[in-house]
Amino acid sequence: MAFDLEMIRAVYAGMGSRIEAARTAVGRPLTLTEKILYAHLYGGTVSQAYERGVSYVDFAPDRVAMQDATAQMALLQFMQAGKATAAVPSTVHCDHLIQAKDGATADLAEANAENREVYDFLASVSNKYGIGFWKPGAGIIHQVVLENYAFPGGMMIGTDSHTPNAGGLGMIAIGVGGADAVDVMAGMAWELKFPKVIGVKLTGKMNGWTSAKDVILKVAGILTVKGGTGAIVEYFGEGAESLSATGKGTICNMGAEIGATTSVFAYDEKMGDYLRGTGRADIAELAGAVRQHLRADDEIYTQPERFFDQLIEIDLNTLEPYVNGPFTPDAAWPISQFAAAVREHGWPEKLEVGLIGSCTNSSYEDITRAASIAAQAVQKGLHVNAEFTITPGSELVRYTVARDGLLDTFAEMGGVVLANACGPCIGQWARHTDDPKRKNSIITSFNRNFAKRNDGNPNTHAFVASPEIVTAFAIAGDLTFNPLTDTLAGANGPVKLDEPRGVEMPPRGFAVEDAGFQAPAADGSAVQVIVDPASDRLELLEPFRPWEGSDLMGLRLLIKAQGKCTTDHISMAGPWLRFRGHLDNISNNMLIGATNAFNGKANEVRDWVSQGEAYVPVPQAARNYKAMGIGSVVVGDENYGEGSSREHAAMEPRHLGVRAVIVKSFARIHETNLKKQGMLALTFANKADYDLIEEGDMIDILGLTSFTPGQPLQARLHHTDGDTDLITLNHTYNEGQIEWFRAGSALNLIRLKESGGA
Ligand code: F3S
Repeated sequence: MAFDLEMIRAVYAGMGSRIEAARTAVGRPLTLTEKILYAHLYGGTVSQAYERGVSYVDFAPDRVAMQDATAQMALLQFMQAGKATAAVPSTVHCDHLIQAKDGATADLAEANAENREVYDFLASVSNKYGIGFWKPGAGIIHQVVLENYAFPGGMMIGTDSHTPNAGGLGMIAIGVGGADAVDVMAGMAWELKFPKVIGVKLTGKMNGWTSAKDVILKVAGILTVKGGTGAIVEYFGEGAESLSATGKGTICNMGAEIGATTSVFAYDEKMGDYLRGTGRADIAELAGAVRQHLRADDEIYTQPERFFDQLIEIDLNTLEPYVNGPFTPDAAWPISQFAAAVREHGWPEKLEVGLIGSCTNSSYEDITRAASIAAQAVQKGLHVNAEFTITPGSELVRYTVARDGLLDTFAEMGGVVLANACGPCIGQWARHTDDPKRKNSIITSFNRNFAKRNDGNPNTHAFVASPEIVTAFAIAGDLTFNPLTDTLAGANGPVKLDEPRGVEMPPRGFAVEDAGFQAPAADGSAVQVIVDPASDRLELLEPFRPWEGSDLMGLRLLIKAQGKCTTDHISMAGPWLRFRGHLDNISNNMLIGATNAFNGKANEVRDWVSQGEAYVPVPQAARNYKAMGIGSVVVGDENYGEGSSREHAAMEPRHLGVRAVIVKSFARIHETNLKKQGMLALTFANKADYDLIEEGDMIDILGLTSFTPGQPLQARLHHTDGDTDLITLNHTYNEGQIEWFRAGSALNLIRLKESGGA
């Protein structure tokens, strides 16, 4: 399968000297996290030590992976950069838009019909720009990346929060927004606050019902959903080396549930086995030759308490299986205490559905362990008391486990195989239920279990566990069942389930007929990108206009937002996600969640130019101003734009004619996103000046002809009573970012440079 041996060779060739330079700069031994990060500095030179948890650093990741929902706007933007190909190896994975309903074949056919225009666009744009395209049904992004692209010591970004799954193969893999993917594909630096490092030492060896999933379920209980924020979790110890690469992947995948930037394991024999088993013996050999760079320095392992920001120790010998939930993945219950918790909290004891697989847990090892439980249902004459579904992570896994008879085993117990796609894991599940208002319980081997996550139903209590525990619960149909100690009614009396048995790698090797990969054209210059002009889901982007070269006079105040204004308030998700590839249509959600400071209401602002006193929705007011050639201004409160890195929150205002966003303070990522789109992201030098902004104000932004780093700008406020105020506005633009503003956007500047025009 397509991987980039030359790129990996180059990464390894540069690692030794960079790590040496970093060790000298930092003046102490290095963790694995630090080795990989310092080896991936943008520009390549290690010239200083960075402070963990403090310094902002520019990196150059090796790869980009995008799922189909986020890839749409990312690639529409990338087209604006004027490049012939993506600057680093990149892939697109069609996994998020397939709804689970009747089983793999029917569901895939329906998704292909329903999303045809999106798939055609993604396939053609990938083909043109040298990007690998994984068709619908090929598998879930993280599983496919693990099988094909992840490599020890590498660094990648992916437009999905469970990208850290690739840490199972020793890669620093970070989940980001589409805008970050565009930066890296366009050859720009990718910025990250240098993370803290949490060490997790695993001692002992797992046995019986305990699996890798239980390590992360326990860690989630210790660290909680916020405990990993701003940190990379580094696993080490003899216990770590005993885990399969895919088990490590499961642990890293769910690091997202504790808010970690990512998680990583050092290179070991298990990773070598997995690389060889998935047709990458050459990478295993290369990694083996630089093994010392793919693990922390020895002192880190002998005195971990000195070098990690936080240290956790888990003894695998005594680790119990866990069940986490409901409604949050950090409510961690050892199986021995779970039944009592279910009764005490009054959670519905009857289990209605067990779901295994997904990007988190669908390795060959997972499937064989779960199948060893499923087989017992038939052998021991057990009645299966809950619905049961299997979501394979990739066609490679699906084909192999089908060949080896494992899907037949699940079918015998009444299991339904769903498409190789996210499905119920992301709420793409047309669940068959007689009464959605009834409180009910389900259990999955997925990663997230927030309310409504799987089936959109707030009454569903979702629990998370390993695939083998999920399978056992599905047979019992009862949440108070403990498979380690309890019996079930068999054909000839009570029976107990035997411990699961798994096989890490398929004894006959992996196999697949059609993995679902489309390699890009060698020369994509003649390839046409397919976008139906009549589409309401996709629209080619027009470059934003460059700065006109003068101060901005007579802008209209669009909204003075009060209180919290997150990227969700600026660009709501939910039903709007359908339009994420169509900037004009999705702009109809612009700022509709923000509270207007003048009337305390959302999505009601005065449009003084055409509507007088009447209130109109925010997007409509913006469109009215834009139609008259009048620019507008958004005013906001503290930490404006916090939340996700959603680029739509910056693109929509730009598209609808907003020229400046003036706030008390910004969330950093949103501030940068505004700058990238060629907007003015400004802060009140005196926060009390927020109160000077009045309804109906016209605003001039002054000082732009001498726009300089570190020099404030000014705004003149023209109030409706004829008074004016002159206020000072701070900014954080550096020279390069001022260039973005002048060019109209960062991508405009890149395009200009590509064409030799700047
Ligand atoms: Fe996300 Fe799909 Fe996994 S929704 S959690 S990538 S199965």
